[in-house]
Amino acid sequence: MANIQRTQVLVVMIISLLIQISLLQAETIASDVHPNISTLKSMVRITNRLGDGSTLNLHCKSSDDNLGLQILAPNKSWSFTFRPNIWGTTVFYCHFTWPRGHSTHFYIYDDFRDGVHRGIPCIYCFWDISKDGPCRFNEATDAFDICYYWNGDPKQ
Ligand SMILES: *[C@@H]1O[C@H](CO)[C@@H](O)[C@H](O)[C@H]1NC(C)=O
Ligand SMILES: *[C@@H]1O[C@H](CO)[C@@H](O)[C@H](O)[C@H]1NC(C)=O
Repeated sequence: MANIQRTQVLVVMIISLLIQISLLQAETIASDVHPNISTLKSMVRITNRLGDGSTLNLHCKSSDDNLGLQILAPNKSWSFTFRPNIWGTTVFYCHFTWPRGHSTHFYIYDDFRDGVHRGIPCIYCFWDISKDGPCRFNEATDAFDICYYWNGDPKQ
């Protein structure tokens, strides 16, 4: 009888130990899914919405990267991914040109405007480029309604 009780105590101890181990593992997994700012990758996608069949030429750069000239047919997109720096100073500057001599530029990513801890954050920063200026996709409204003038001022 005493032996059986001792076995039962041992079984209970082992079970509680297993529960503790699995809780510990769950905690480790939970900390893995928390966004880690140093491994976070953002994406910019740019789509030609000039209309009337115009081709959009663009050339984007940051202080570290020159992404080269891109030529976008109507309604076509181009994208790049990058890791915003931990100081929150990442910017990508793009020069846009289209037929009949139009030439303009825009900061397609500006950590101060788009960064995860800023005003209107984006990880997937999707932009439609029209002649009136760039508009960013808004997950809250499911529309490209975060719009800017070419000089960078917000439209709303
Ligand atoms: C975030 O990721 C980096 C690089 O993988 C790693 O060195 C760092 O320990 C991670 N930080 C946290 C809080 O998980
Ligand atoms: C581009 O998309 C617009 C809106 O969906 C459409 O009206 C237009 O015909 C498309 N242009 C081309 C060249 O596919």
